[in-house]
Amino acid sequence: MATETREIREQYNPANTSECIGKIELHTVEETEAKIEASGKAFGEWSRMSSVARGEILHKMADLLIEHMEPLAELASKEMGKTVPEMIGEVKRGASILRYFAQEGMRAAGEVLPSVSEEKMLFTKRVPLGVVAIITPWNFPIAIPLWKIAPALVYGNTVVWKPSIEVALTGQYIADLFLKAGLPEHVLNIVQGRGSKLGTVLIKSPIVKAISFTGSNAVGQQILNEAGPLNKKIQLELGGKNAAIILADADLELAARLTIEGAMKQTGQRCTATSRVYIEASVYDEAVEKLIKYAKQIKVGETMGPLASRQQFESVMEHIARAKAQGAKCIFGGKPVAELSHGYYVEPTLFVDVAHEMDLAREEVFGPVLAIFKVADYEEAIRLANDSEFGLSASIYTANIQKAFDFIERSEVGLVQINDETGGAEPQAPFGGMKNSSTGFREQGQAAKEFFTVLKTVTINGIRYKKS
Ligand code: UN1
Repeated sequence: MATETREIREQYNPANTSECIGKIELHTVEETEAKIEASGKAFGEWSRMSSVARGEILHKMADLLIEHMEPLAELASKEMGKTVPEMIGEVKRGASILRYFAQEGMRAAGEVLPSVSEEKMLFTKRVPLGVVAIITPWNFPIAIPLWKIAPALVYGNTVVWKPSIEVALTGQYIADLFLKAGLPEHVLNIVQGRGSKLGTVLIKSPIVKAISFTGSNAVGQQILNEAGPLNKKIQLELGGKNAAIILADADLELAARLTIEGAMKQTGQRCTATSRVYIEASVYDEAVEKLIKYAKQIKVGETMGPLASRQQFESVMEHIARAKAQGAKCIFGGKPVAELSHGYYVEPTLFVDVAHEMDLAREEVFGPVLAIFKVADYEEAIRLANDSEFGLSASIYTANIQKAFDFIERSEVGLVQINDETGGAEPQAPFGGMKNSSTGFREQGQAAKEFFTVLKTVTINGIRYKKS
């Protein structure tokens, strides 16, 4: 059988589409299989190493990430378009994720339980799963891989990691840094290539015990279909269509500023982005005026980057065209930026007169587009906010503590925000959604342990010492 040759891919800068920023050699199916096998072989020794020592390597990796902050942020920015300050923020976030999970190496990995018998000792012990496959998207090319890889490693798993092909160079940089940090060879194996080709190899390999994926619902469903029957542990972080509610008693200035930040930061390319806002009728006009004011303050090309790729650009422009065709009214933006035609730049875009059946009210855009709705009261707002197949994050802006508490109870999301934007995630806090936004396993914080370990229950009989 002829050996498949490696494909070479050139990466282009979405802010300047004629600038080639580097090349990457993609892995073949055979090479991917070999990497999975190598991860399997590395598991024994890595899992036996003390978790404190594994944590030390993550601490070292955090130091290296900070040392390499500027070149890494610049490379990642050129590869997927996020502004350099946004990317610097992401590198710092990556370091804090690593430090949180480094400390996990010093925390309990089980508990002692009482037994009915005085002769028995009963305890639980968390053990690693083995080889885990980690498949990550382009929109957080540093933070999302680290918030999966760090817990996977500290709990003793070995990893095969496939970053999105759109951010292959950034992925390679991170994988190389892990080796510099002292991670033994093959504990983390990076594979470069398209999900459509290598994804199935990872998912179906009998060596791979678990799959953690962040990305589109379509691919998530495919992973469930392929890996579910094989009884693999699966963690999926998928789409969002996150709502904000602005009530009449809200601090409108704060609400408008954070709604625009929630919608436009990272050019709206976040699964947690605010994409719908429901405003109580009595403050509607004033709130819309303020939303426009904050949208105007965004300097496309400076404070807001381009969309990540031609495909993203075309998809976002298609969503905008469809919203217009279906009768929504664009009151701000809605076009590519003419003076910045060298990149995939789109204006921050606001729509009103959006009916709830329209695609703009239901589908994830993954771009700088916000749908604005007028509602009679809180009851209508929460009903419409919950009227979505997604359930990742939702915000309410109000000074009314009872309504805020009601919102905590009734909003059908995993991340509830009171007077705060829909995006963001701190490493110590569990992250994930309801409905079609996630599978059951949360990421980050102590919740990460649930996914990346399995519990053993141990019974020891005959523990009483008896004098002979
Ligand atoms: C954030 O809002 O800062 O892919 C994190 C995403 C999410 C992470 C969002 N899984 O956008």
